[in-house]
Amino acid sequence: MRIEEHVAARLKELGAEIRQSVLLAEQTSLGIGGTTDELLLRRYGTIPEVMRVLANENIRHKFLGGGTNVLVADGELPWVALHLPSTQPGMRVEGNMAHVDASADLGGMVTFCAKRDLGGMEGLIGVPGSVGGALRMNAGAYGTQIGTHVREVELYRAASGELETLRGHDIHFDYRHTSFAPDDVMLRVKLELPSKPYKEILAGIRVCNEKRRASQPLNQKSAGCIFKNPPGGSAGKTIDELKLKGHRVGDAMVSDRHANFFVNAGHASCSDMLKLIDDVRERVRAAYGMELENEVIVWQN
Ligand code: EPU
Repeated sequence: MRIEEHVAARLKELGAEIRQSVLLAEQTSLGIGGTTDELLLRRYGTIPEVMRVLANENIRHKFLGGGTNVLVADGELPWVALHLPSTQPGMRVEGNMAHVDASADLGGMVTFCAKRDLGGMEGLIGVPGSVGGALRMNAGAYGTQIGTHVREVELYRAASGELETLRGHDIHFDYRHTSFAPDDVMLRVKLELPSKPYKEILAGIRVCNEKRRASQPLNQKSAGCIFKNPPGGSAGKTIDELKLKGHRVGDAMVSDRHANFFVNAGHASCSDMLKLIDDVRERVRAAYGMELENEVIVWQN
């Protein structure tokens, strides 16, 4: 979607940088996604006004974080992408509290805190993506979930149209789910982390890295796990039991390493990937009566 000149001028006044015709395939870990204009929101304070301008002009938008858990439609997209450019370093530590910008890299945050003897997030080390994206979906791995440590979140609240600060205990964090609204925009987070010597944290990080390397296709384009695990079960194990590793639609393929990772093995399109997701879901339903829910967020038109 093209942002017209007069709107672009107003958005620039509000500190937003506009990048025209960006190929989102280059900004997603799946390497899939069409073209649209992108707005970089450099001034948090003007976000409410930017949102009002977009609403008044009937410009649809989607908020792109690290792009690691999203499947974006192909072709010219009928919405613009909003993005918070990353800040350096975008984080600071005060006692046991870490103050982190949502645009910061999740792994970068884990190591930054570790070097300051703050642990508790070792399991998150290899999870790709931004801190904001991890917050929104309560990312987790190896027994750690980011929500456990959250004490405060600063965000743009779509419901009020304003910037707000929420206390940790007012936010619900469940398995890969939070009480944030889909159009809330995470801006900053305050996490409380346990003190731990750097060496000990590093040992924990190494163990998680090894487990991940042994079981996940880290060198292929993916969005991590495609489905959430069903209560008490494992989506990966179930798909594997059906002998679907290597199963493909075009270049979209069930990883031969971990069956809940679907990879872009070449030039997969969004529609290839969606067909593969539906096909696998249907086979699991037919064989086990089990309904697999997407973990990946799908942005169709
Ligand atoms: N398994 C198979 N075949 C496979 C994949 C897994 O038999 O192809 C078996 C494993 O051997 C194991 C069980 O299934 O006995 C569970 O597998 P794994 O330990 O890999 O964990 P998972 O439940 O598949 C979850 C998260 C991952 C996270 C790991 C480690 C979900 C949907 N996935 O995977 O998170 O990294 O645990 O904690 O909750 C993600 O969310 O994108 C993600 C990658």
